[in-house]
Amino acid sequence: MKETPSAKLVSSANHTASPFGTQFCDHMTLVRFADGRWSEVETLPVGPLPLHPASHVLHYGSSCFEGMKAFRMQNGGVRIFRLDRHVERFQRSAELLCLPLPPADIVEAMIRQLVDLCLDDIPEAPGALYLRPALIGTEENIGAAGAPSAQAMLYVLASPVGDYFSRGGHGLTILIEDQELRSTPGFGQAKAGGNYASALRHVVKARKEHGADQVLFCPNGDVQETGASNFFLINDSQLLTKPLDASFLHGVTRDSVITLARDLNYDVIERDFTVAEVMDWIQTGEAALSGTAAVLSGVGSFVHKGATYKVGDGSTGPNTRKLSDALRALQSGRTEDRFGWLS
Ligand SMILES: Cc1ncc(COP(=O)(O)O)c(C=O)c1O
Repeated sequence: MKETPSAKLVSSANHTASPFGTQFCDHMTLVRFADGRWSEVETLPVGPLPLHPASHVLHYGSSCFEGMKAFRMQNGGVRIFRLDRHVERFQRSAELLCLPLPPADIVEAMIRQLVDLCLDDIPEAPGALYLRPALIGTEENIGAAGAPSAQAMLYVLASPVGDYFSRGGHGLTILIEDQELRSTPGFGQAKAGGNYASALRHVVKARKEHGADQVLFCPNGDVQETGASNFFLINDSQLLTKPLDASFLHGVTRDSVITLARDLNYDVIERDFTVAEVMDWIQTGEAALSGTAAVLSGVGSFVHKGATYKVGDGSTGPNTRKLSDALRALQSGRTEDRFGWLS
């Protein structure tokens, strides 16, 4: 297993000692698209990729990716969480970027093959093997600003990870950005590198100026998502989250939390809501972020227009913890897979 030179110890409590995403299994799987067809799946050592400097991705940003986890089950074995949903979203992102559409059976085979190769590197839950398929346009043509890349490369990396947001129950600090957009109204649903690049300056500024962990994008007061997760308001009986539209990423964890919440008799409300409602809700309720890395992490405080507003006592609230525990238990096989999410 390899580590990047910058990898450093962050917490002895984490199941892997390196920061999320900096440690890689030795192998990756890879296919290429050319002349209208996909090549056979190759297994390669993880290392530099040969890319022509004129590659479409390097100039016109033709890249998308996915992020999912394989878990070590309590009773042995390894399962991937909601693989079909992640593959579907990967295809949707490819479609939105006019990249060649990777067939679901090829992507699934690449992921499963890699998990089999990395079995010994998978930590015990709540650690996991994070799986990162990436699709990039490789046509060598700097004149193709207005044309899709006719060639592409798809590869899958695997990275053993600990508990990304584990902060001993301490809530996250979130800056509310009520003017800027993370992406565009139609492209937020793509898991495209460009969306992260366009949000980055806001996240960097929030961290530097306010010590915030993330930014909640709320253009014109419309509460959407953070730079890397979906957003929920939670109380003893309800969950409130934005309904699916093209402006934000349709989180697989978001869907899982909603399903589990309904199962636990919460009333799930999917409707648009405003920053004013968030401020009102946190007088008595909880707020949380959902994502493959974050699972369901509590918000401890919001920074808004220069002032800080504490949520509860600043730690993860009891309903957030209850839902997060239910999801983690299912992911690691401690409770029955009653929705058929593990494969
Ligand atoms: C912008 C953004 N929104 C939401 C999510 C949550 O998606 P998921 O639950 O599928 O990981 C992520 C994380 O991948 C993300 O990057």
